[in-house]
Amino acid sequence: MYQLSKAPLLNAQQIDKRLESLAQELKACDFDIILSVLTGSYIFTADISRRIACPNLQIAFIKASSYGNSTESQGKVQISGIEKIEIKNKRVLLIDDILDTGNTMCALVKTLTELNPASIKTCVLLNKESRRTVDYHADFVGFDIENKFVVGYGLDYANDYRTLPEIWTLEEV
Ligand code: IMP
Ligand code: MG
Repeated sequence: MYQLSKAPLLNAQQIDKRLESLAQELKACDFDIILSVLTGSYIFTADISRRIACPNLQIAFIKASSYGNSTESQGKVQISGIEKIEIKNKRVLLIDDILDTGNTMCALVKTLTELNPASIKTCVLLNKESRRTVDYHADFVGFDIENKFVVGYGLDYANDYRTLPEIWTLEEV
């Protein structure tokens, strides 16, 4: 059994403030397309892309699944939706909700590189550095957090909690 922590780890105001500065960094990079990893990054992607607000910035969604109804990664990353997206010679910004073991981002960057984009940079809202099992660092990070399972603001546990506006720790009871 799991329950939410008593107070959010990051409230809506803290998220807002960090997104504002992150958007300025991203704006300076002149990306052609955002590739957003569903489902966890749907809210982050909507909020950050509105702040970048560049008329020529395209957006596309791909799906990557490595978790079942568990808080532990199952290791293998399934990717779908990439085949329909034109990324050759484009400056790509890959956005995910959270960098945990690093397996998902590594697998995605490897697959995308084979499609010959002009460049690929990665951006994650949350980074759990202590959980990394592969040598991988995101180019842009919203917040570095401890090794706790978190939900809300798009992130789920067994598909629940995604619509909460804050980020909460999920505690075992
Ligand atoms: P990685 O492949 O281990 O880096 O895991 C990345 C993916 O696992 C993320 O895209 C999330 O979907 C999921 N994930 C990892 N940690 C958490 C968490 O604390 N809460 C919710 N989802 C998580
Ligand atoms: Mg994910």
